[in-house]
Amino acid sequence: MTILSPAGAKSQSGSTTKKSFGKTPDGQPADLFVLTNKNGAEVSITNYGGAVVSLKVPDRGGKLADVVLGYDGIDGYVNDKSYFGALVGRYGNRIGHAQFVLDGRTYTLAKNNGENSLHGGVKGFNKAVWTAKTLSKKDGQSLELSYLSKDGEEGFPGNLKVTVTYTWTDANALKIEYSATTDKKTVVNLTNHSYFNLAGQGSGDILGHLMTIEADKFTPVDSGLIPTGELRDVAGTPFDFRNSTAIGARISQDDEQLKLGGGYDHNFVLRRSAGSSETLAARVVEPTSGRVLEVWTTEPGVQFYTGNFLDGKAAGKGGATYPKRSAFCLETQHFPDSPNQPKFPSVALNPGERYHTITTYKFSAEK
Ligand code: BGC
Repeated sequence: MTILSPAGAKSQSGSTTKKSFGKTPDGQPADLFVLTNKNGAEVSITNYGGAVVSLKVPDRGGKLADVVLGYDGIDGYVNDKSYFGALVGRYGNRIGHAQFVLDGRTYTLAKNNGENSLHGGVKGFNKAVWTAKTLSKKDGQSLELSYLSKDGEEGFPGNLKVTVTYTWTDANALKIEYSATTDKKTVVNLTNHSYFNLAGQGSGDILGHLMTIEADKFTPVDSGLIPTGELRDVAGTPFDFRNSTAIGARISQDDEQLKLGGGYDHNFVLRRSAGSSETLAARVVEPTSGRVLEVWTTEPGVQFYTGNFLDGKAAGKGGATYPKRSAFCLETQHFPDSPNQPKFPSVALNPGERYHTITTYKFSAEK
């Protein structure tokens, strides 16, 4: 293990260490970085897929628990099909019929989810080894990850230079800053795919977690989970999380959209004011531990996914198993299938422009 900080007198809070996380099947080494803040709360991240491997935060009595699903070693991430903790790109979520048109040219992607493309394709950013650099900041520890996605990779145009900076602050917040530039017009939609269980990973289902989502509308989907294009009012539907409601309170209702998703697996249209600053997207409370998660973002949407496809077969951390609905995701994003939906906010990136979004997961506890 290498202690990267405190490096001399400069570091004022916490520490970062690095250790080997093993090798990819083609022999590339990957590392695990453990970022600990001044309270002793910690996040560990691997540069394989940029995945958040563990996140230990206190309950109302100060007791730490690991609140994200994951694997003990790199092999789990190499074989993973659920995107545990990963950085997702070049296009997070689905693109209908695995194709899109940009400036009159049709781009064809791999169909890795029925007829559609999901989460960047067969070998998305979650299967790449990223270049890592650690930085010690005044109020936290940072890990900067970069990756060059080559022109034509997974069918997308343009050499895309991506940098994602994770900062673990002394206020128990995980700030994720995404930036990218391209040399050819392309589409970009980056997110993080952490699966949370605020009672602790491997501790059962998340149906009792209380959820609030700052959205008046959501994007209903077809049977392939591609948005129909409609922005539907949440009012009067099981998708109304404007007031804190248990995730499980309505999940089994006889509702067409819940049936199509096998539960919640939908993009919510965030009630955010225009501008580049982050606004609150969602707030989750786990009543037994008192742990609270707030998600803040500059993005217009969030995919609320209740782990409907988890089947308990993955070998989780420390022998944990992860059955259906044992975690939830809040993937901040532009809307699914935006490249084919002219009415949705644009995901196009031109040469000379800079893609830049910020999402922060803030942890606390209430009595
Ligand atoms: C999707 C789910 C999918 C999961 C894992 C989520 O973002 O909406 O349908 O099963 O990712 O791939």
